[in-house]
Amino acid sequence: MCLDGVDVVMIFLAKNERQQISRLFAFLLQGEQLAFDCAKRQSVFFTDTWHRRFLANQARQERFHAAVFRSASGMLTPKGLSAIPGKREFEQYGMLLSECLQRNDSMGSLLGMQILLEGLGDVALNHIDAGFELRGIDGMCQRVRYLILGQEDAHHQFGINTFQNLLGEESEISAQLRQQCQDYLELIEQLMESTKELFHYFDENTDLYMDEFYQSLPVWVSEQRK
Ligand SMILES: [Fe+2]
Ligand SMILES: [Fe+2]
Repeated sequence: MCLDGVDVVMIFLAKNERQQISRLFAFLLQGEQLAFDCAKRQSVFFTDTWHRRFLANQARQERFHAAVFRSASGMLTPKGLSAIPGKREFEQYGMLLSECLQRNDSMGSLLGMQILLEGLGDVALNHIDAGFELRGIDGMCQRVRYLILGQEDAHHQFGINTFQNLLGEESEISAQLRQQCQDYLELIEQLMESTKELFHYFDENTDLYMDEFYQSLPVWVSEQRK
């Protein structure tokens, strides 16, 4: 049975398992909040209706994803959590993105959000989904899980395609974009490092996530890995 997108079977898990799953949802929630804020601000960068609508729609979807993860985490640990992994790294990532958004930098913000952060989210969510199924934990009802996975994939593809269109005929990526890319990737490496222990609890290896993530990116982006 689903309650606000959360399967009620989760409430009957052992206390430690409930806390760890709640931490995982709280970790994901931070990414959704950042994506909501970013997509909402990006939507005004574009003059054409299609891009504006896509981004406004993305913002609505991110707000829904955030609500699902917030309610899932809150239902599992009603008294709250003492520590949420990735807090500092998400804050720093948000500051980098905010600098881009303040100067209406559409390419830099698409790179930071839809291409990189959502590319990572795509890999992580697919593994988490598979891991939950393997452990016999439904987590969130199947319909909601598939809906979120499909929407995240669409956001990531939108970012790659729009970035490529803005790049146009230019084959050379500017030094500024390469530097931005390296800054984003450095924080993403730190972010995943901060979650190692949590993912290890679920028998997940974040090093494999990172390899998969880099393989999924455009070649010039993965070349910025240090
Ligand atoms: Fe999302
Ligand atoms: Fe998204």
